[in-house]
Amino acid sequence: MSESLHKRRKLIAGNWKMNTTSSRALELAGQIADSATQYLDNPLLDVALFPPAVFAERIAREVLSQVRIGVGLQNCYNEPYGAFTGEISVDMIASLKFGYCLAGHSERRTIFKESNELVAHKVHALLKSDVIPVLCIGETLDERNSGRMFEVLTAQLDAVYQSLNSHTAERIIIAYEPVWAIGTGVSASKEEAQSAHEFIRAHVGRFCDSEKVLILYGGSVTNENAFDLLSQHDIDGALVGGASLVAEKFLGIIQSADKVLSSI
Ligand code: PGA
Repeated sequence: MSESLHKRRKLIAGNWKMNTTSSRALELAGQIADSATQYLDNPLLDVALFPPAVFAERIAREVLSQVRIGVGLQNCYNEPYGAFTGEISVDMIASLKFGYCLAGHSERRTIFKESNELVAHKVHALLKSDVIPVLCIGETLDERNSGRMFEVLTAQLDAVYQSLNSHTAERIIIAYEPVWAIGTGVSASKEEAQSAHEFIRAHVGRFCDSEKVLILYGGSVTNENAFDLLSQHDIDGALVGGASLVAEKFLGIIQSADKVLSSI
């Protein structure tokens, strides 16, 4: 294995989307924390949960306060405060010491019409408040089939990176999530994912030392395909939707990451 792989950590992140209820959210976080304990000793392996915003504080305070599992939100708004009914500001997230926040998930881009520019504003606001942005990018099937995949990824990346200095740019975590693989049960193959990740790393290399940037893969990751995906040179972790709602499946993905790390 190449030397560069040794330098990068792995992050397994669970995006619960708009699922669970208050009691189920606490229970699920507890099940994940209990079952993952032994893997959390691995200093190169990070785990984070992205529950619905309304449950995040209780999960952090009541379930994870003594556990090395991060908590993040799934969305934020870039304005610091004011008349934006229903929105959550970055400063609110920072004030609760949540470590991460997703930005530009494809469901936000598609259903809520978030543009590359809005996503860039959100990422920049998160960086200013020291919350690590997990910038989600990815092409639709149509874009891939019509040969526009790299163009789409480039536009999604450039909107965010163009105005950043390299030190700041290196703090962004990228999640490559091909839209056609999200929630479909059809993951990108390990070769397809690796090739997209390689392109992304090379492109981000124009703005910073991209060997320092974590690039997660997302889209139908399960305990069954995680090892193959996570073994790829440029795949530094997974953003997991459906499988993160079942503690045993999510644990299987954490175990796979641990196994990959111990094999290099
Ligand atoms: P999935 O979702 O694992 O259910 O495909 C991934 C995501 O949307 O982050």
